[in-house]
Order: sequence, then structure tokens, then C-alpha cells
Amino acid sequence: MRKGIILAGGYGTRLRPATSIISKHLLPIYDKPMIYYPLSTLMLANIREILIITTDRDVELFKNLIGNGSQWGLEIHYAIQNEPNGLAEAFIVGENFIKGYSSALILGDNIFYGHDFHLILENASKSKKGASVIAYRVKNPSEYGVIELSSDLKPIKVEEKPIKPASNYAITGLYFYNEDAVEYVKELKPSKRGELEITDLNNEYLKKNQLNVLIMKRGYAWLDAGTHESLINAGQFVHTIENRQGQKIACLEEIAFRKKWIDENSLLKSINNYLHTEYGEYISSLLDNNSV
Ligand code: G1P
Repeated sequence: MRKGIILAGGYGTRLRPATSIISKHLLPIYDKPMIYYPLSTLMLANIREILIITTDRDVELFKNLIGNGSQWGLEIHYAIQNEPNGLAEAFIVGENFIKGYSSALILGDNIFYGHDFHLILENASKSKKGASVIAYRVKNPSEYGVIELSSDLKPIKVEEKPIKPASNYAITGLYFYNEDAVEYVKELKPSKRGELEITDLNNEYLKKNQLNVLIMKRGYAWLDAGTHESLINAGQFVHTIENRQGQKIACLEEIAFRKKWIDENSLLKSINNYLHTEYGEYISSLLDNNSV
């Protein structure tokens, strides 16, 4: 069984005043809180036991919103990271939760969307070997972890925010690791900016020839929401798709219901929480039209 971690820490200093009193991950992306999107990604990877890492300031709000996850057939736990000591620190903060298990780590502001995306996820999630990362072509690779690939698409090098990127392939904020990740992270030294870098963890796997790269090609969307502009872009993207198709992205009740993790009674309870909303109407429609 694979467990999931969502990193929803930090004080969103770059987004103040929007985040002066609230986690970035609770701001809306169009019609639902940002955290719904990484939650939906883990659910589509069939991961049901999830640790949310956030700050002391915000943890009660997350608990109010999400609780223990049983409304979606999940088991949600919480842990605190108050200092920004790097993404790889998730494995130290979450050590008790994750030890002995393979895991998927997702950054709380990463939004994925695309046809049959769940197949990529299920493949990555099923593999028990080493680590798997997802590469995605971007215009501005210097702002990300960048992966250099050989002509047969094998990883050669991973570099964090290189000034001269070796390729246009960014590594997305969704990582699958075997149970060795905790031990590998303990061996890492903080980088120049004083953080335990996820890129260094990926390089450990690469050195041992245990890093798999899945390429997410054209036709998929990978968005992050770390700036005001990317936040509104992500919201507009979700609005455009939902409004055109009449189907929701990251409706957690829908995913849980279609996977049969919750039954009609649980769905009816959720509907009561969303009376007179479009979200509630959408969930209701699942009861009449459970086929597509
Ligand atoms: C982090 C990682 C980077 C990765 C990115 C994906 O960067 O360090 O390797 O490509 O997430 O969103 P950050 O968002 O912390 O700048």
C-alpha cells in the first residue's frame, strides 16, 4: 500500500495580503479550495491514507474543512512544519506516518489535468521500484527542478532552478518513492539556501539508477499557483473546462463515489452541506447519471 503526503505548509509570503491570515492552499481555485486539487490527484492514484503537512497557524482551518476524510472514503492525518526547511523535510516531519511504506508526495499548489491522467498515476503508483517523477515541458524551466534526458528518454541529471537549463522539462511537484525515501532524506545536507531539497533526494535515486521518469506530453495541463498570476490562470482554466463540459475537476465526492469508496447515503449527506449551490447540484446529478 502506498501512502500520500500533501505539503501545504508555508505562510504564503509572496501572496500577501491575500495570504496574510490564511494558507495559500485554502484560497479558491475557481469553485473549490486549492487543496482539493492535490487531494483529487492522490485519490486518482488510489491513495487513501494521506498526511497533510501545514503550519500551526492553519492546521485548525484544514481540519475544519477536511476533517478525517471519511466523507470521501479517506483517512486523513495532519502534521506541522512551521519552518520552511525544504520539501524533502516532509519525510522527516512525516516519518512516523510513512516509515516502511512507499509514498507519493504532492505539493499543495500543483494542479494536474488531462485525458486518462489516472492511468499515468496508477502506473506510477503500482511500481515498487525506486522513485518516479513526472516531467513536463515548460517555457520557463529555470523556475523549476529541471531534468536532462538522453535520446532514449532516460534521466541524466536533475538540477534545481538552473540558470542555464539543460532541457525544457520541469519536474512536476508530484513524486512517487519507495520506502527508502526516509533513510535517503536523513543523509541529505541542506542546500546553499538552507533547505533539504527534493531535487537532492531525486539525485540520490538517480545515482543508484533508481529514478524513473514519466513524461506528460501535450494535451495535459500542469499548473502551479504560487503567484497571483498563476493563481488566477489556474482558476480561469478550471472555469473554462467546467463551464464548457458541465463536468467538474477535482470534485472529491464524485471521485470517491465512482471508485465506490462511498455509497449513496454518504453522497446524500454531502448534498445537504451544499444545498442551493452548483456544487451540490452537480453531486446530486451523480445519483441520476452515474455512467460517464
Ligand atoms: C519546487 C521544487 C522544484 C519543482 C517545483 C514544482 O519548487 O523545488 O524542483 O520543479 O516545486 O512545482 P518551488 O515551488 O518550491 O519553487
